Amino acid sequence: MRSTITLPEFKATSEYTLIDAVTRYVKSELYPRESITIDELTKLLFVAQGCTRRRWGLCFKTVPSAGATFPLEVYAICHNVENVKPAIYAYSSQRPLEGELEHVAPIDSKLQIDIPRALDVVIVAHYERTTRTYGRRGYRYVYNEVGHCIQNIILESALLGISCDVKVIRNEGERESIRTALRTEGDPLAVLRVGVPIKSSKSLGIGEGRQLTPLEKAIINRRSIRSYSKRPLSLEQLMLILKYSIGFIDKNRRSYPRLNDSYLVNCIVLVGNVEGLEKGLYRYNSHKNELELIRRGYYLDNLYGACLYQDYVRDAQCDLVFTMREGADPFLAHVETGAIGQNVYLLAASLDLGTVAIGAFYDDRVKSIIDVDILPTYVMPIGTL
Ligand SMILES: Cc1cc2nc3c(=O)[nH]c(=O)nc-3n(C[C@H](O)[C@H](O)[C@H](O)COP(=O)(O)O)c2cc1C
Repeated sequence: MRSTITLPEFKATSEYTLIDAVTRYVKSELYPRESITIDELTKLLFVAQGCTRRRWGLCFKTVPSAGATFPLEVYAICHNVENVKPAIYAYSSQRPLEGELEHVAPIDSKLQIDIPRALDVVIVAHYERTTRTYGRRGYRYVYNEVGHCIQNIILESALLGISCDVKVIRNEGERESIRTALRTEGDPLAVLRVGVPIKSSKSLGIGEGRQLTPLEKAIINRRSIRSYSKRPLSLEQLMLILKYSIGFIDKNRRSYPRLNDSYLVNCIVLVGNVEGLEKGLYRYNSHKNELELIRRGYYLDNLYGACLYQDYVRDAQCDLVFTMREGADPFLAHVETGAIGQNVYLLAASLDLGTVAIGAFYDDRVKSIIDVDILPTYVMPIGTL
């Protein structure tokens, strides 16, 4: 019989904001750890796939899911967690803020660790849960969701001050050996190594983030919001969302892990009702944190048509359209888009704004509106409440 461990309830105890977490992450003010507490384990797993509310017999989670199909599963390989026997566990969270670990197997010798660290979190995909509804397009949705999940773990580990790196698993042989060790039929797509030594840099003051809702509260409050007011969005809020979701925070780094030699995703902004900005189509310059006007005019109606007439695309004050760079690896670009999308959700939740990730659109029609010959990956309306 498999044994289970009930984890402590998730409590939003930290007052630090997303800006604090990002600052710490970008400056690598993070410390390697050979062991972590069970409270830290609880937080890292909860932000990955914890239940925040129950509706219609479903558990809604800390991260969004296309059509609430929930294709992801999270495993914890506990190397050194206080009061938890070293082993592989499956995480589940069926009631708000609660979670448990089910013992799966001892740590396979193939997974034995070379570098000391406390924990590995493995994100496993069950594509069929999503492709059953969305066909082939479901794959990219699953990759997006992996990105959402990765980013929440990165931000939480930064809040906790624990170093953490990410490896996406591309090699089929490697996937197979992890799959066997986890005794799952799903596809292991990413491993986050918690506590692994990383290069640290100078220290900095955290707690200086602007007046945002604390990150852990924003993680619990995050949800897809599809109904907006007619009040304009402030330019300051829009620029803050762009900077901390996809902008460069310092010379070389954005607020999420680089999965390749370079970042693969860019952003176009379609402005409808933003104070101090003409209606039009803008390119976001992620290095300068500036919007560059490409064309004046009102494009939200066209985008609404291209997004299968989802009202909120037109009702929003602006829409962010994420695109992948030419020649980019689509798998990595969709994961990266998910990480950016998670930042957008959390920033919106921190600023009392609404947003929703939109994956259902006609690629060609969105392309022709934004006039770039590269694949759009997400549309995210930003609306005032
Ligand atoms: C990859 C992806 C694609 C999505 N596409 C759409 C979409 O086209 N339209 C929409 O209204 N919501 C979309 N959503 C939002 C989900 O419907 C939403 O996350 C899910 O119902 C769970 O609700 P929650 O985000 O409030 O927890 C998408 C979410 C993801 C992750």
